[in-house]
Amino acid sequence: MKSIATIKIDEKVYEFPILEGTRGPKVLDIRSFYKDTGMFTYDPGFTSTASCNSEITFINGEKGELRYKGYPIEELTEKYKYLDICYLLLNSKLPTHEQSIEFDNELRHRAFVDEGFQSLFNAFPRTAHPMAMLSSAVSALSAFYYDHVDISDESEFAQMSGRIIAKIPTLASLAYRRGLGIPIIYPDIDRYFTENFLYMLRAYPGGKMHRNINEKADTKISDIEVKALDTIFTLHADHEQNASTTTVRTVASTGAHPYGAISAGINALWGRAHGGANESVIAQLELIGNVKNVDKYIAKAKDPDDSFRLMGFGHRVYKNFDPRAKILKKLQDQLKDELNLDSRLLEIAHKIEDIALNDEYFIKRNLYPNIDFYSGVILTALGIPKNMFTTIFVIGRTVGWISQWVEFKKDKKAKIARPRQLYLGL
Ligand code: SDX
Repeated sequence: MKSIATIKIDEKVYEFPILEGTRGPKVLDIRSFYKDTGMFTYDPGFTSTASCNSEITFINGEKGELRYKGYPIEELTEKYKYLDICYLLLNSKLPTHEQSIEFDNELRHRAFVDEGFQSLFNAFPRTAHPMAMLSSAVSALSAFYYDHVDISDESEFAQMSGRIIAKIPTLASLAYRRGLGIPIIYPDIDRYFTENFLYMLRAYPGGKMHRNINEKADTKISDIEVKALDTIFTLHADHEQNASTTTVRTVASTGAHPYGAISAGINALWGRAHGGANESVIAQLELIGNVKNVDKYIAKAKDPDDSFRLMGFGHRVYKNFDPRAKILKKLQDQLKDELNLDSRLLEIAHKIEDIALNDEYFIKRNLYPNIDFYSGVILTALGIPKNMFTTIFVIGRTVGWISQWVEFKKDKKAKIARPRQLYLGL
């Protein structure tokens, strides 16, 4: 039996259907609201608005629950590598052993970019932010693959998706190396996705990674480093209808090129209120500099007249611990000695956490550490500079964006995004 909501406006009663998903809150279907009532609904920031239906990621903010295609994030990070998660998001099922090898192999061969990209990156000033370079390069990809994706052709979706997932790490490494003014390193098809990214950051021209000349054997990228970064990519893979995914869907709704939509998503993610927070967390810990200064900055964060915010704290959806933060915190503890994490930054971070989790201001507002609070210390230990942190988020999230893009394109009822306004002008 369909449930109906009735709304009374100026003595007139209107009825609107209530829709129920497989998980999460029910939704009030107000698609006919303006036509029926002549009024708009009002929800800046979309705090109470479902913009679409989706089968990709489910979040329960009260319980601190996150699932990709129904699988709990805890199980996925424990048992699977990042490329298997990509396969799951793209195909709605985990790969068999053969499918996993085939997908891995495909992405290794798609990791290369047109030689023209070297001229593009050399055109940037060395001081350019890697996110500025990365979003430009991804937009440029639509010039090299201008053929519009035929949305009725499954194999085209697969090619278009595999291509962008495989090329983003290469483009991110080009941005990093441009910043240093050093020659590029081509992808190594003998290395798995995550190891290959670290290799493209670290290797010397010719592909050598000797730490010193009397080390004849190549300096290996350790399994623990690959596992740490692979876990970080998985934790960032998708996250429902966040600001950058909403941007990607909005661009998808106009019929623009998918790589133009991904570039728009990269720019939305760059903001410090969103994915840019991971870089700001480390900058903030360095600014605080010493545990003795933590109280001063906590007071600033609580001061309504001070725009200072505790970066890495708070979330629109999680009103409990971000489950990704819990996994990263555990990973931090595991890696503390193995990766020689910066104990000074860790000490400041733990002090912030101890105080904030017991302070009325944060408790009342359900402000908990989010994913960005913990990722930076691990990335720093992997030798990744903080201005590259949000490009790491991009590498992890690209599969989520492109999966949401494909889901939007397959929705026969999807419409161009075109909200209205409450006009206060003359
Ligand atoms: C990501 O949406 C996603 O899923 C994003 C993400 C993903 O995977 O895609 O999870 C990734 O973006 C994580 C969030 C990273 N951003 C930060 O860490 C930046 C710091 N946090 C915030 O600026 C803030 O918490 C947001 C942007 C994350 C959430 O903002 P909301 O939901 O709009 O909450 P709000 O700004 O309305 O704040 C509610 C109250 C306010 O106080 P009052 O006006 O009620 O007195 O909480 C306060 C805010 O001032 N507040 C903070 C705070 N965050 C919120 N006060 C101090 N420090 C903070 N960090």
